[in-house]
Amino acid sequence: MKTMIFEVLEKLENQSTLEKSRKVDVPADERMLAITKETGEILNMIIRIKNAKNMLEVGMSVGYSTLWCAEAITENDGKIITIEQNPKKIKRAKENFQNANVSDTITIKEGLAMQILREFNLQEKYKEYFDFVLIDADKENVIEYFDMILPLVTVGGVIVTDNILYPEKYKEDMKKYSAHIRAVPNVRTITSPIGNGEEITIKLR
Ligand SMILES: C[S@@+](CC[C@H](N)C(=O)[O-])C[C@H]1O[C@@H](n2cnc3c(N)ncnc32)[C@H](O)[C@@H]1O
Repeated sequence: MKTMIFEVLEKLENQSTLEKSRKVDVPADERMLAITKETGEILNMIIRIKNAKNMLEVGMSVGYSTLWCAEAITENDGKIITIEQNPKKIKRAKENFQNANVSDTITIKEGLAMQILREFNLQEKYKEYFDFVLIDADKENVIEYFDMILPLVTVGGVIVTDNILYPEKYKEDMKKYSAHIRAVPNVRTITSPIGNGEEITIKLR
């Protein structure tokens, strides 16, 4: 089973490299826009160290980051809920999860992140429920996502946010995001230069 996950990850890495090289012309709404392999490895490691069991991902794309996390969370008998709005990407992700034999670990919530997070906030079940979160969707709403996600996270839970340092076009949004988190009293946060820059935030009591 593990081999199957790594085979799919490798295939997606090749696609991502091709996409980034601009040697192929991929339409904007079909681009993977995936985290880097190093970021995948770090997410995988954090899930293992934390023994995380309930993960939330905002921005699944075709499932590259989800697969890195699934590889670790299955060891903990955990589950992933992941949010994506693009139907073409959802179809590709479902195929990837099937090929990696991890469909049972992952629930895809199809739709707009803001709306789905609002629904989660209304359900008692999700209060302090997730012990690991990856935020990697549209960057304009990243502060709102964080504020909606924080009540859903356990004390000691970790929130990782991608694209803190790169690409350049997100720099202003991400600067505001970093400043926003640093003003929240019950979290501690660091900016790591791994991949495209990862904000790693832990919720405190
Ligand atoms: C950077 S990509 C995610 C990459 C993925 N985490 C990975 O590393 O493989 C961002 C994704 O968020 C989705 N997205 C953007 N805005 C969204 C929104 N408001 N609601 C749900 N999904 C959204 C996009 O369709 C895109 O697939």
